[in-house]
Amino acid sequence: MGVVSVFSLSRTIAGLALGALVLSGCGSSLGESDTAEPGGGRSGGDVKIGLLVPLSGVYAPVGEDMKAGFELYLDQHDGKLGGHDVDLVTADEGEGPQTGVPAAQKLVTQDQVTAVAGVVNSATALGLRDFFHESKKPLLIANAGADAITGARKSDYVWRTSFSNGGVSGALGPAVAEEAKGSVYLMAADYAAGKEMVAGFRKSFEAAGGKVAGEKYTPFGKTQDFQPYLSAIRKSGADAVFAFYAGAEAVNFVKQYKQFGLADKTPLYGTGFLTEGGVLAAQGKAAAGVKTSLHYSTELKSARNKEFVDAYRQKSGKPPTAYAVQAYDAAAVLDKALAKASGDSGEDLVKALGGVGSIDSPRGAWKFDADHNPQQQFYLREVRADEGPAVNAVVRELD
Ligand code: PHB
Repeated sequence: MGVVSVFSLSRTIAGLALGALVLSGCGSSLGESDTAEPGGGRSGGDVKIGLLVPLSGVYAPVGEDMKAGFELYLDQHDGKLGGHDVDLVTADEGEGPQTGVPAAQKLVTQDQVTAVAGVVNSATALGLRDFFHESKKPLLIANAGADAITGARKSDYVWRTSFSNGGVSGALGPAVAEEAKGSVYLMAADYAAGKEMVAGFRKSFEAAGGKVAGEKYTPFGKTQDFQPYLSAIRKSGADAVFAFYAGAEAVNFVKQYKQFGLADKTPLYGTGFLTEGGVLAAQGKAAAGVKTSLHYSTELKSARNKEFVDAYRQKSGKPPTAYAVQAYDAAAVLDKALAKASGDSGEDLVKALGGVGSIDSPRGAWKFDADHNPQQQFYLREVRADEGPAVNAVVRELD
């Protein structure tokens, strides 16, 4: 699938959103037997929830993890959220807004879901914001980190169980400024998230005294051969590299970084997506020593995380990822909110979302901040691949 800029899509998206609103009865999908219980809470009846994740494109493996995480929560809770049997409707986000926006609109207008969870790509999230805001349907973003979604363009109807791009990358800046001798080269996929990851890192890195050697964005979803970019890094004389890649792009980048001979002399840093889950399994020993920031690792020692890792492994036959946790937590949030909601409208549900309180997550307990983004701890992780499968060992908490 080709790369289409968010800018060139904005008119199409606005048109689609408007059309969908006109078509939409914005009806409820809670079972007809439902009756509001005085004093809050509802009981009985089904609830239809949309799960919008990539089932195709570079981020398909991310979507698979999110689906497994959401489904694990349902398995552990009798298939119910807030006392309702859940009818889960999964739709393909694809590689960006050109596929993700119409898929979300179909979930709301045709399938008449009560809420949508998911969304991996920042550009999709930005393209969806006005549609959910205007149709007054709750959207729980379980990955996409677009800063504006819980910043300048925050909405009563849009909530996030993952991270903001500036938050996860900004957490790493001071650590790299302290560790790396000399200057750092910045690299990312050329789209909304890549730009924000680099900007967030650069801001806190430079504020802590770090120097930037160069900056390069690679065509998103198209770049398979990173050799020319790796040559440019070598030429720049940089002493370390910060990178944002995820999914299939992260596998290629990290493997080629090692094959090119940079890994031994020029330490590689990034946001945790660079070495997460199936990506890390595919990179194997090539990823040894890569250091990243993230709000989760399978290696977190809490009893809550161990129990989650075991349950997820049993279900999926592989270790969980931050993506799985973010979607698992989206189900937990919906469970609490649906139990509390005094009626079945989007307005009732978002009112209840404001009161869900602390979420007992495998990453550690977290709460929504005033902008609907998680208040959470980030960790410095390092890939260890000496014995057995490679893991993201937790080095320390980041400030
Ligand atoms: C994003 O587009 O916001 C995004 C995608 C994949 C990631 C992280 C962020 O792993």
